[in-house]
Amino acid sequence: MKKLVIGNWKCNPDSFAEAVRNFRLLSKGIKGSSLKKAEVAICPPFAFLAGIFPKKEGRIKAGAQNCFWQERGAFTGEVSALMLKSLRCKYVILGHSERRAFFSETDGMVNKKVKTALAAGLIPVICVGETMNQRKEGITKQVLEEKIKEVTKGVKRKEAEKVVLAYEPVWAVGTGNACPVQEAQSMCLLLRRIFEKIYGKKASAKVDILYGGSVGAENAQDYVKEAGFSGLLVGGASLKPAEFIKIVDAVSRV
Ligand code: PGA
Repeated sequence: MKKLVIGNWKCNPDSFAEAVRNFRLLSKGIKGSSLKKAEVAICPPFAFLAGIFPKKEGRIKAGAQNCFWQERGAFTGEVSALMLKSLRCKYVILGHSERRAFFSETDGMVNKKVKTALAAGLIPVICVGETMNQRKEGITKQVLEEKIKEVTKGVKRKEAEKVVLAYEPVWAVGTGNACPVQEAQSMCLLLRRIFEKIYGKKASAKVDILYGGSVGAENAQDYVKEAGFSGLLVGGASLKPAEFIKIVDAVSRV
């Protein structure tokens, strides 16, 4: 199965010119042979989405970092799934830990967004992960199970098969403190098992599960090769074109 590497630029870079420059470097630098083995998507800030991707679907797929749960209307500042679809977005990251922490997003809100995104024909990349406190308390399993159940509530199996899950331990995101590969491996199995409990074996086998949290060129391959993830969700390192290219190459060699 093709691997998947998604770059999340978060609220970066400062200017459109820099975004275009980064994107060009990536487009030129990622080898065609790597793209045969790994699909690559970039999720820039909304403001740059329309400008940086080619008019036709290109080598690098377009993604967004969030979307709203209503299709349209008087919701100042929000961006709908249909708008993203019209900009040729393929993926949308939902439930990222930064949205949960800084914008009080709950599993219930993420659930509404997942349904709206699927209805618009987008692939939701649903982030779940435990905090350091939850990890220390030894309740990671319950936390992940509850989150996955909540965010997929009311999503039919046929639709659920299309989603991408991202295991993003909150304590590993943006900290430089990546999850030990063995621990990540058991989390990958756990996520698949939780999904299987809800949707059955066939559906669970189809779902891509990504790892995210302080991924760099030096550890990227381990999560796919050793821990068995289908790919990666990369934050900080996706803003450094040379490093992101190395990550894609490393994953495509697995
Ligand atoms: P990071 O972010 O790679 O900078 O830790 C990951 C993410 O937020 O998806």
